[in-house]
Amino acid sequence: MQRTVLITGGAGFIGTHLARLALAAGHRVRILDNLSPQIHGADPDYRPPAGAEFMRGDVVSRADLTAALDGVEAVVHLAAETGTGQSMYEIERYYRVNVQGTAVLFDILANGPHQVGAVVLGSSRSVYGEGAYICNVCSPEGRRCYPEPRTPEQLAQNRWSPSCPVCGEPVDAVATCEGDRLSPASVYAASKLAQEDLVRVNCRALGVQPVVLRFQNVFGEGQSLKNPYTGILSIFSTRIRLGLSLPIFEDGEETRDFIHVEDVAQAILAGLNPRPDIKDTINVGSGEATTIMAVARLLSATLGGTVEPHVTAQYRVGDIRHNWADVARLRQLTGGARISLEEGIRRFAAWVATQPIPPDLLEQANAELKARGLMG
Ligand SMILES: NC(=O)c1ccc[n+]([C@@H]2O[C@H](COP(=O)([O-])OP(=O)(O)OC[C@H]3O[C@@H](n4cnc5c(N)ncnc54)[C@H](O)[C@@H]3O)[C@@H](O)[C@H]2O)c1
Repeated sequence: MQRTVLITGGAGFIGTHLARLALAAGHRVRILDNLSPQIHGADPDYRPPAGAEFMRGDVVSRADLTAALDGVEAVVHLAAETGTGQSMYEIERYYRVNVQGTAVLFDILANGPHQVGAVVLGSSRSVYGEGAYICNVCSPEGRRCYPEPRTPEQLAQNRWSPSCPVCGEPVDAVATCEGDRLSPASVYAASKLAQEDLVRVNCRALGVQPVVLRFQNVFGEGQSLKNPYTGILSIFSTRIRLGLSLPIFEDGEETRDFIHVEDVAQAILAGLNPRPDIKDTINVGSGEATTIMAVARLLSATLGGTVEPHVTAQYRVGDIRHNWADVARLRQLTGGARISLEEGIRRFAAWVATQPIPPDLLEQANAELKARGLMG
């Protein structure tokens, strides 16, 4: 079914890919985005995809959001502050944009006439925190357990691996399912979980279809090269191009699930027309765990970098050790991710090579954390 779709944050990384795909699928697309300087730079040169309507505005502004919702039949809510580390000291800002922005959206829908039949939320795997593990000592039969977040003291002793919450022995990470425990470890993650709750509670009350998509680590062409607070591959690409060292936190063996942005945009598009047999909360990942060291090496080799990544044993408070997705529900929705990590990195590297090299701001971002005792 073709609809008039509002994409909040639609000028961003994921929103831009989605807008193009939605237009190609015959949807009418409106984008509401404030072109945040942290992401777009002080002097943004954003041009919306041909055929999309662009409104520059803020999701926390009732007037901007009311105007943007006029005639809209489905909302994809992507506008957000997205830096995990930064969220730990810009708490009010993260809650204002992520939580208050979502509250304003539903306040408008609850109090006025509207035609919105579906809301798709771009949520995050961060809502799980550490995700699911198995303790072979306590549970040889493989029952899942949920380690507590690693403490600053534990990290300071370079004890990177979470331990069993019952016996304290080392545990093995497993793919995280949508029904696993939710345990945000950062302010960003807490704000994404609050968004999820607002979407579910209000959609139920309003008779609107909710779809909550929990993205893993999204990468690909168009990810902001200006934002030093998020997007590990974008940050690394700049350092590789500048010939700077490639510092890897902890021991480099921490894992993430990398999914190419085109696969994410496909999942959102499918979420606009969900089938009744599919659940409303869906992990969006590749289903594969990749160590940070491995992805850094792959990116450096693909970009022709000359500097080897090296582990620093540094860490950030609020970071998790492992997380990758159980993608059974995503397979039902879209057939699953199609772009391999290698292919995605090739595409990303080819795009990066066409972009001006931005200044490297990683050390500045790390200094902000260190100054507040949030990085060791
Ligand atoms: N990229 C990832 O790896 C990832 C992973 C998990 C979840 N997500 C979620 O996906 C969504 C999109 O992420 P992205 O990677 O495209 O981020 P992005 O930073 O590239 O895009 C976000 C967009 O939102 C806009 N924005 C920020 N504050 C706004 C406000 N107050 N009003 C209007 N617009 C505002 C920004 O200008 C930007 O264009 C976010 O909600 C994020 O939490 C992303």
